[in-house]
Amino acid sequence: MSRERFSITLNWSKNIAAQVKHFSFTRADHKAFCFIPGQFITLHISHADKVLRRSYSIANSPDGSAKIEFAASYVSGGIASDLLFNLKPGDQLEATGPFGRLILLEPYPKRIILVATGTGVTPYRSMLPDLEKYLIQATDRQLVLLLGVREAKDLLYRDEFVTYLERHPRFHFRVYYSRLLPEQPLSYEYRGYLLDAFRDIHPDINTDIVYLCGNPNMVDQVFSLLMTRGFTTQAIRREKYISS
Ligand SMILES: Cc1cc2nc3c(=O)[nH]c(=O)nc-3n(C[C@H](O)[C@H](O)[C@H](O)COP(=O)(O)OP(=O)(O)OC[C@H]3O[C@@H](n4cnc5c(N)ncnc54)[C@H](O)[C@@H]3O)c2cc1C
Ligand SMILES: NC(=O)c1ccc[n+]([C@@H]2O[C@H](COP(=O)([O-])OP(=O)(O)OC[C@H]3O[C@@H](n4cnc5c(N)ncnc54)[C@H](OP(=O)(O)O)[C@@H]3O)[C@@H](O)[C@H]2O)c1
Repeated sequence: MSRERFSITLNWSKNIAAQVKHFSFTRADHKAFCFIPGQFITLHISHADKVLRRSYSIANSPDGSAKIEFAASYVSGGIASDLLFNLKPGDQLEATGPFGRLILLEPYPKRIILVATGTGVTPYRSMLPDLEKYLIQATDRQLVLLLGVREAKDLLYRDEFVTYLERHPRFHFRVYYSRLLPEQPLSYEYRGYLLDAFRDIHPDINTDIVYLCGNPNMVDQVFSLLMTRGFTTQAIRREKYISS
């Protein structure tokens, strides 16, 4: 797997939640971009005589093309945020990658629990075709996705996850709204922090692998909870969205 430096060209971008944009790039050299779902790329941004690095989880699934997509949450005053949210189609950026170990590994467990806040859900979006195979291969397998956002307008890729939910009876999806629950919540909508889900989704070291991605405090808190339930680090894969 290459970890070379390459240029990427923006094809299009669109708002997918209140302060979140989905970006679709192509490698400028049109070479296929090979990666494993769950990995990220790093942008190299020239700023005030320095080159800053900012990483973004790849949101699309590998298809042998030169396409690289990701979703970015706008951080007020953020250097990469200001750059990304002002990009126009045709603009180019420098990147390296792919990197990261937040990937599906065999042998597969009986249950995969995916946990994310905000744009931390994008690596799981990239995994959806592989997760479909995971579910279809054995009828005793379960897939759980817990996603934390502030309120309904911050929920990204809603239609895609709801469609997946309708197609796969062994897929369990819960959204936790930290600030505002819709007046008429749907069956998958809850109020609070996603940590609350572990009151009834009992994590079990014998059957589960847990993936954690996004807010560093969330990652640390769920990790601590899993350790108190007898989990080992081998059964937990983590990625914290920390600004470098
Ligand atoms: C492996 C990895 C994968 C990542 N994937 C994604 C992704 O897919 N999508 C995505 O949106 N981000 C992702 N991030 C975070 C991303 O790399 C940047 O850190 C983020 O976009 C902010 O960069 P910035 O240059 O805009 O802000 P900066 O210029 O770095 O920060 C500006 C100010 O905002 C504060 N700040 C930075 N981040 C946050 C935050 N999240 N919340 C509140 N305050 C903050 C900083 O402390 C600073 O004071 C990832 C990070 C890592 C390490
Ligand atoms: N509507 C908006 O104003 C808006 C929307 C998107 C992004 N942003 C900005 O973009 C940046 C990134 O925001 P983001 O929403 O992508 O990521 P974020 O700030 O990490 O928050 C994502 C979700 O995780 C929740 N959370 C925080 N700590 C947690 C914990 N310990 N356990 C479980 N859940 C926890 C947050 O709740 P709480 O925040 O309620 O604690 C929120 O619901 C921030 O600078 C933010 O201000 C703003």
